[in-house]
Amino acid sequence: MGWILKFVDSSIGKKFVMAVTGLSLILFLIIHLAGNLTLYISEEAFNSYVSTIDIIKPLIRVAEVILALFFIFHIYNGFRLWYENRKAKSSKYKVNVSSKNSTIYSRTMIISGSIVFIFLILHLSTMWYAFNFGEHGENHSYYKIVLDWFSNPVYSMFYVFAMVLLGFHLNHGFQSAFQTFGWTHKKYTPFIEKLGTLYAIVMAVAFASIPIYFLFFFGGK
Ligand code: HEM
Repeated sequence: MGWILKFVDSSIGKKFVMAVTGLSLILFLIIHLAGNLTLYISEEAFNSYVSTIDIIKPLIRVAEVILALFFIFHIYNGFRLWYENRKAKSSKYKVNVSSKNSTIYSRTMIISGSIVFIFLILHLSTMWYAFNFGEHGENHSYYKIVLDWFSNPVYSMFYVFAMVLLGFHLNHGFQSAFQTFGWTHKKYTPFIEKLGTLYAIVMAVAFASIPIYFLFFFGGK
C-alpha cells in the first residue's frame, strides 16, 4: 500500500493520476454531450432521456461519486503540479519552458482549468441541483428547467466563455495524457495531436451551441 502512496506523491505519479482521471473525464464528456444533444430533437425526447436515466438512479449515484472523486483528484493534483513547476522555474536551476517549446494551451492550463472549475460549481449548483432537488410539480418538464436557465443571457454567455476555455484545456490535456503514458511514436503522435484538437473543437462547439440555441434561436423562451 505504501508504495502506491509513494508513487502517487512522486512527480510522475502526479502526472499519471492527471492522465487517468483526465482521460476518464474526456470519456464522461462524450456521454454527457450525447445525452444533452437530445435537447435538439424535442422536449419529449430530452424528458424521456432523463426519465430513462432515472430508472438506473442508484447506478448513476455511484458513477457520480466516482466522477466527483476523479474531478477532485484531477484538480488537486493539477494545482500541485502547477505549484511545483512554478517553484522549479523560480529556482536557480531554471527550467526552459519558453514559448518556443510550449504552446499557449499548455501554458494556460491552470487558468483554463480554474475557469472550467468555476463553471462546474455554477453548473452543479444550478442545473444539476434543479434536476435532482428542485420542486417538480405534476406536469414538470426537465426541458423547461434547461430553457429557464438558458433564458438568462449572463448565465448563457458565461457557459459559452467557459466552453471556449474547456476547448483550450482539452486540446492540451488529450495529447498530454498520451505523452504521460509513454504512448509516443514518430508516426502516431501527430495523429494523436490532431485527434485531440478535433475532440476539443467538437466538445467546445457542441456544448457552447446549446445555450446559444436557447438564447438566440429559441428567443430565450
Ligand atoms: C450546454 C452544456 C451543458 C448542459 C446543457 C448540461 C446539462 C446537465 C444536466 C441537465 C445535468 C443534470 C443531469 C441529471 O442529474 O439527470 C448535468 C449534470 C452534470 N454536468 Fe452538465 N451540462 C453541460 C455541460 C457540462 C460540461 C462542459 C461539464 C464538464 C466540464 C459538465 C459536467 C456535469 C457533471 C459533472 C454533472 C453531474 C453528473 C451527472 O449528473 O451526469 N456539464 N449537466
